[in-house]
Amino acid sequence: MTQQKTILRALAGETLPTPPIWMMRQAGRYLPEYRATRAEAGDFLKLCYNPELAAEVTLQPIRRYGFDAAILFADILLVPQALGADLWFVTGEGPRLSTITSQSDFNKLSDKDNIHETLNPIYETVRILRGALPDETTLIGFAGMPWTVATYMIAGQGTKDQGPAHALKAEHPAVFDALMDRLTEATIEYLSKQIEAGAEVVKLFDSWAGSLNAADFQKYAVEPARVITQALKERHPGIPVIGFPREAGDGYIGFAKATGVDCVALDNSVSPEWAAKHVQVDGCVQGNLKSSHMVTGGQALVDETRAIVKAFKNGPHIFNLGHGITPDADPENVQLMIDTVRGG
Ligand code: CP3
Repeated sequence: MTQQKTILRALAGETLPTPPIWMMRQAGRYLPEYRATRAEAGDFLKLCYNPELAAEVTLQPIRRYGFDAAILFADILLVPQALGADLWFVTGEGPRLSTITSQSDFNKLSDKDNIHETLNPIYETVRILRGALPDETTLIGFAGMPWTVATYMIAGQGTKDQGPAHALKAEHPAVFDALMDRLTEATIEYLSKQIEAGAEVVKLFDSWAGSLNAADFQKYAVEPARVITQALKERHPGIPVIGFPREAGDGYIGFAKATGVDCVALDNSVSPEWAAKHVQVDGCVQGNLKSSHMVTGGQALVDETRAIVKAFKNGPHIFNLGHGITPDADPENVQLMIDTVRGG
């Protein structure tokens, strides 16, 4: 059957006259309706595990803006929780987890096949969404990549330079590698269930890929992305995969070929002109407007949006930000970005 959804057409390699558009963290605190539903749920994690309310916040930006894709509302840190880590969020600060710093910490984690009891509500959210989304809107599922998720599991929180994870990798490589393998296996099972429930695309978030040196980038970013993508495509032929090795720099070159992902998501550290030449040659790219434009707006937003559309116009492109929209963004600037992409 000929594919009609614009996101799926771009992911299949088609160059469209107007790039389809969605936005990282499009369901989030910059929207008053999100804040209201989060308050109704109680807190962020309760919202993630409440299928009705998680589906509701996923739909809010679709109703308000008519984005071409909806991204499942959940978090990359639900997988560590499903593996047995304690997880909580400190308001204004971010996530906290029990730490993994030794073989005995690792031994307490559960097996990849035991994650679904915790994660079943997420699959239910996906099922609700497939029934509720407009026909033209693509549903994107996602997971964190092993390296990025491991940085939080090892440190027990977000860190500037991922120091504790680099230290475990250097000092206890067997524990580190076992954790990477467990996360790789669990991610395959988790994404597989999302796809069975109705996710039409999956995105792999490797937010801290940029802190790996060239050799480690191959071993701990490229190789897990290749293994996960291959396993998903074997089980679910044709499932499109978006890879996001954030701040990979030159590591973006050849990433799609080396991993088998259908699209490479770009952060702001690369110019669209450079990325068109070095990354889009291999297929679809996604990105890469600076999210600060959603705060500042104005002519700079319009000019930069037009420059990105222009730079990528000769190949498959999905318009997006280079990272998630921030809570201080103005919802009207999001509309201005969409109007500029769609209206020129
Ligand atoms: O994009 C979407 O709208 C889908 C949902 C989504 C969330 N987190 C919701 C969320 C996705 C895809 C993520 C990914 C995620 N989560 C990443 C990778 C992408 C990135 O941002 O680099 C990471 C590193 C996390 C872990 C995480 N979750 C952190 C560090 C934080 C705290 C920082 C913050 O923004 O507050 C979260 C919380 C979080 N995840 C929020 C949302 C909407 C804010 C929670 C709230 O409502 O208070």
